[in-house]
Amino acid sequence: MDATRGIDEEAVPTLFEWAGGGPALLRLTTIFYEKYVPEDPLLGPLFATMASDHPERVAAWLGEVFGGPRSYTEHFGGYDRMVSQHIGKTLREEQRARWVQLLCRAADDAGLPTDPEWRAAFVAYLEWGSRIAVENSQPDAEPPPHMSVPRWWWVCDATPGSRVSALAEQAPQQNAELPGADEPVSFAQHIKPLFRDLDRRSMRFAFDLWSHAEVSGHAGAILDRLRAGTMPCDGAWPEDRVAVFERWIDSGKAA
Ligand code: HEM
Repeated sequence: MDATRGIDEEAVPTLFEWAGGGPALLRLTTIFYEKYVPEDPLLGPLFATMASDHPERVAAWLGEVFGGPRSYTEHFGGYDRMVSQHIGKTLREEQRARWVQLLCRAADDAGLPTDPEWRAAFVAYLEWGSRIAVENSQPDAEPPPHMSVPRWWWVCDATPGSRVSALAEQAPQQNAELPGADEPVSFAQHIKPLFRDLDRRSMRFAFDLWSHAEVSGHAGAILDRLRAGTMPCDGAWPEDRVAVFERWIDSGKAA
């Protein structure tokens, strides 16, 4: 658990949690509608008569989309209300593009996360949602009624911790303590620490590298991959680590 962010690292955080929750999204929309929109020639006139709680409403929508509480649905009217606010506005592409551009600028000002994973998901949603807003706003548009608010997610499994950062500190695997020559090898003490969070996530589709039972069951195949240097995918283990894994198998795969 990362206490500073209040995020359980065992589970993949939602985009809402990673952003910093409701206060962070409200900072974003407040900056956007107060600092950028009024003086922008393309957007200013569109929002000239917006309600004073508009930033709060859009923050609630974004929070819900990003996996937070269903505040927009519960307090502000949900999908139908959002669509009704775009209908008939005949939004133009240049307005849409400016909307996305300035919202990204506001995200920087608001101190929202700048990591590649979160920004990729954020921009993907803004592009997707804003193009739908333009579509829904055209004179002949007939948006489907009564849909649920979409729930957005990290793009293409690019979740936090899913890759090795070029700026990351040394991976835990490199620091794992190897057993002495006469010491019995155990899964909990020696084998599990050899697998990083990244390795675990990469293999999750098949089995759990932090589970004694599952690693025992696939031990032979794992050893083959380690020996061939094809696992982990970002670089082979040094020989002494492969040897420890082999010793663990030969000595009965202790828990
Ligand atoms: C991901 C894209 C978008 C999201 C999530 C979004 C969100 C919202 C929401 C939730 C509302 C209704 C707030 C309420 O309850 O009253 C709203 C209204 C509105 N949106 Fe969007 N919007 C998007 C794209 C756009 C774009 C691209 C434009 C124009 C360039 C735009 C222009 C407006 C306008 C003019 C209103 C009505 C404001 C008023 O109350 O006067 N929206 N939007």
